[in-house]
Amino acid sequence: MGEESPFSSAVLKGKVALITGGGSGICFEIATQFGLHGAKVAIMGRRKHVLDAAVASLGSLGIKAIGVQGDVRNKEDASRVVETTVSELGRLDILVNGAAGNFLVAAEDLSPNGFKTVMDIDTLGTFTMSHAAVNYLKKGGKGKGPTEAGVIISISATLHYTANWYQIHVAAAKAAVDSLTRSLALEWGTDYGIRCNGIAPGPISDTPGMDKLNPEEVGKSAEIVPLGRMGEKWDIAMAAIFLAADTGKYINGATLPVDGGSWLAKPRY
Ligand code: HXC
Repeated sequence: MGEESPFSSAVLKGKVALITGGGSGICFEIATQFGLHGAKVAIMGRRKHVLDAAVASLGSLGIKAIGVQGDVRNKEDASRVVETTVSELGRLDILVNGAAGNFLVAAEDLSPNGFKTVMDIDTLGTFTMSHAAVNYLKKGGKGKGPTEAGVIISISATLHYTANWYQIHVAAAKAAVDSLTRSLALEWGTDYGIRCNGIAPGPISDTPGMDKLNPEEVGKSAEIVPLGRMGEKWDIAMAAIFLAADTGKYINGATLPVDGGSWLAKPRY
């Protein structure tokens, strides 16, 4: 568990957030922290039992939450999930694109369809959800005043800043996600006041991504982080609050690494 939040518990009061992949891992922590800071939350995922458990857990913390089943690769699902969020929770202020596919595989063992599957979930899914949400996020969108605009936060990675073993598909997909963030920040920032930003987590403990590595590799990940430790899901959730709330009101088109500096790590000489 992370420490006490530095933000006021009302910093997201009145806001509604839709978080894809919000049933587990980092994005469940984002959903929890958004809720604890005043937002109502909708979580989207493919597995109903995961969503049900997550909604129950959020409810036990006093958070108003709904789970809406769907696949970010499917544009009908995307529209239905966005519309359900707005009809049940009244409006949409924050979209977090967190749904992601990942597995470790050597490039020569990865099939083109395996590559495409991760591109589809991470990159096309981010575009599809953003596209489905834009009319609700823009200034004056349903439930919003004429000057109130929403925010998109896309979860990226630092893999593609250099290169990483066995992650060619994820690195390509996240590089494209960062590109989407910049293009949408330009177009939708200008036209609709929507801020589009990203968060690039480093090695974060207790996540599905880390579970795929063996304990020895996890130990090595922690050793090379300049700040000397793995991150916690809480660290990512605090960055998400910072970007979603007015603390981030002049930030647009940025992807913030939250990795303890790990992508910069070099052996000392
Ligand atoms: C090689 C694999 C594979 C594996 C799937 N494929 N798993 N190839 N190694 N372990 C290939 C399949 O053979 C198939 O290609 C194609 O991918 C589609 O597989 P399906 O199982 O049909 O796809 P689907 O059911 O849609 O599932 C997609 C999935 C997803 C990507 C496997 O279920 C998944 O990854 N779930 C894990 C979610 C997760 O861990 N999320 C956290 C992400 S963390 P062929 O050619 O055979 O048809 C993250 C952080 C990044 O993103 C940074 C980390 C450091």
